[in-house]
Amino acid sequence: MDGSLPPKAAFDVDALRAEFPILSRQINGRPLVYLDSAASAQKPRAVIGAMTRAMEGSYSNVHRGLHTLANETTEAYEKARESVAHLINADPSEIVFTKGATEAINLVAASLGLSLQAGDEIVLSEMEHHANILPWHFLRERKGIVLKFVPVTDEGALDLSALPALLGPRTKVIALTHMSNVTGSVTDVAAVVAAARSVGAKVLLDGCQAIVHQRVDVKALGVDFYVFSGHKLYGPTGIGALYGRAEVLADMPPYQGGGEMIGSVALDAITYADPPHRFEAGTPPILEAIGLGAAIDWLQGLDREAIAAHEHALYARAVERLSGHNWLRILGTAPGKGAILSFTVEGAHAHDVAQILDRYGIAVRAGAHCAEPLMRRFGVTSSARASFALYNTLEEADAFAEALIKTRTFFA
Ligand SMILES: Cc1ncc(COP(=O)(O)O)c(C=O)c1O
Repeated sequence: MDGSLPPKAAFDVDALRAEFPILSRQINGRPLVYLDSAASAQKPRAVIGAMTRAMEGSYSNVHRGLHTLANETTEAYEKARESVAHLINADPSEIVFTKGATEAINLVAASLGLSLQAGDEIVLSEMEHHANILPWHFLRERKGIVLKFVPVTDEGALDLSALPALLGPRTKVIALTHMSNVTGSVTDVAAVVAAARSVGAKVLLDGCQAIVHQRVDVKALGVDFYVFSGHKLYGPTGIGALYGRAEVLADMPPYQGGGEMIGSVALDAITYADPPHRFEAGTPPILEAIGLGAAIDWLQGLDREAIAAHEHALYARAVERLSGHNWLRILGTAPGKGAILSFTVEGAHAHDVAQILDRYGIAVRAGAHCAEPLMRRFGVTSSARASFALYNTLEEADAFAEALIKTRTFFA
C-alpha cells in the first residue's frame, strides 16, 4: 500500500443509471425523467442491498446488547458514522445522527438557545429553507432573540456585502445555506467564517444541497456546524447528520432525553454521555444509518468532480435549449451555481406546469420550495424546479426543455 486512493471508475451515466432500479419505470406511458432529486434522490442498489442485508442477516438494537447480533449491528451503525465523518473530513465523535437536516438544526437551535439571552442575535438569510428559519423563530418567540437576514441579490446569491453591518457583539450564530435549494447559488463560506470570527459568533451551514454536488471539508471550511439529510444524498429517509466541532459539541446540553444519552441516572441527579451519544436519545434509525453509510461509500467510489461536471452540463443544456423564450423566467443565475433550475412560466401557475410535465413522464417540483421569504424576494408565490442529479442524461435535459416548450402552448 502506498497510501494512494484506489482508481475511480470512469464516469458512465448509463452504467450508473443501471444501479437505480426505479429509473426503468414508465410514467404515463413514457420513460420516467426524474428531475426532482433536490427534494429527494433515488436510491442505488448499494443502499437497497445494504439495508436488506442488515434486516435479513444481522439486525438487533445497538449499543445495549452483549450478543453477536447486537455487536454486529452496533459495529455497522458506528461504521456508518465513520463513513459520514470521512465524507466531510470530521472525526466520528463529531457526527451526530439525526432524523435529517431539519432535526439537526432544531437540535442546535434548542441546545444553544438554552444559554441565549433576550436581545442576543442570530443572522440568517432571505434564501433559507424553512428548516433553517423556523427553529430560530422559536427562539425569537420564546426568548426574545433578534433575527437578522442577509439579503439576496437579483441574481439569487447572498449579498454578503451587507453582512458586516448585520453583525455586532450580540451576534451568537450565523446560520446559512451552503447551496440554495431554489437558486442553486453557493455561499462564500470563507467570507462568512471570517466575519463570524470577528465577533465570536458560531457558524452553521445547511449543506442539504451542497453535499450532493460538491466535496465538503468541514475543517477547511472552518465552520462549527454542518447539517445534511441522507435522502438527498442517495441514502434513505429518516436519517441525517449533524457535524459539530468537538469543542463546541462538548459544551452543548442535550436536546432530547432518553436511553443511551446518559452517563448515569438517579432519582435526584443525572449525568450525560459524551458527544455524539449525548445527542442521540433512544433507539436511533439503525437501518437508515447503515443505508446512509452505504450511499456514502458508494458515492466515494465515484469521481465526484466528473459528476459535478456532468450535472453542470445537464443544467447548461436545459438552459441553452430554453434560451430565447421570453415567457420563461429563471430564478437564480449567479455564477458557479449548482444544477438546480427554478423557473416561472408567464401566465401559468407552477403547479399546472408540473402537472403537465408529468404527462410527459417528467417529474419536477412546484411550489414555494419551503422558502417563502425567497419567493417574496423574487416577487412570486411559487416556481417550478428541475434539479439534476448524477443519473440524469443530456437526452433527459432535452426532453424536459421540449416538454416545457410544449407546456407553454397550453397557456399562451
Ligand atoms: C437547503 C435545504 N435545507 C433543509 C432542508 C430540509 O431537509 P429535510 O426535510 O430532509 O430535513 C432541505 C430539503 O429540501 C433543503 O433543500
